[in-house]
Amino acid sequence: MKFIVCDNYEEISAEGAKIFAEQIKKKPNSILGLATGSTPVGMYQNLIQMVKEGTLSFKDCRSFNLDEYYPISPDNDQSYRYFMNTNLFNHIDMDISNTRVLNGLAEDAKAECVKYDEEIDAAGGIDIQVLGIGHNGHIAFNEPDEKLICGTHLTSLTESTINANARFFEKKEDVPTQSLTMGMASILKAKKIILLASGKGKHQAIAELLDDTITTSNPSTLLKLHPDTTIICDRDAYEG
Ligand code: GLP
Repeated sequence: MKFIVCDNYEEISAEGAKIFAEQIKKKPNSILGLATGSTPVGMYQNLIQMVKEGTLSFKDCRSFNLDEYYPISPDNDQSYRYFMNTNLFNHIDMDISNTRVLNGLAEDAKAECVKYDEEIDAAGGIDIQVLGIGHNGHIAFNEPDEKLICGTHLTSLTESTINANARFFEKKEDVPTQSLTMGMASILKAKKIILLASGKGKHQAIAELLDDTITTSNPSTLLKLHPDTTIICDRDAYEG
């Protein structure tokens, strides 16, 4: 696991975008693993800028997103599908039909999850995956637990995550309590992973990435098993 410690959020965003752009230039038909949350937004803005300047093209890329609330309509402005459209897809030259987000309205959640992992495998696997991190070390919606799940699955969110997400909803009762999420093995199968973290609130989770242990009580520590993971964080997240 490699660390890049930046001075601020702008640097994190530029660094993340640089690594993504290098991957897409090296392999124009890359399979991208994308994330929601506030942290990757700056990186997406940098990538949009590159497309506008004509220095980067997503036209041959395909993407898979990490997770989606369940149940939720893709038209709901709090859905991750809506987030991805407004924060990235609507502004780049990627064919929207090549962007895949888990279906928050799937009648059979289990079947949707199985199909998702099959689609990723059939596409040849994810070339580059961007991750954020929850305050409790969750990645995608793999929450701390005694056991973690390998494949894409339906899961319940912890109180800490529901509270963290409440800022996006009018009332706390509106915050979804379940989601569909890629599992730990689905994420660890990505060929290259970058994790972005900013602010003191992420320090506790990031601090556990600095030693030589792994624990399911901080799912992000399992990334230590991955051969090509880079943590891109600011000093606040790194030093506390
Ligand atoms: C949600 C998402 C995660 C994300 C996390 C942190 O739980 N499912 O993928 O990493 O939020 O979000 P933020 O970047 O806003 O702190």
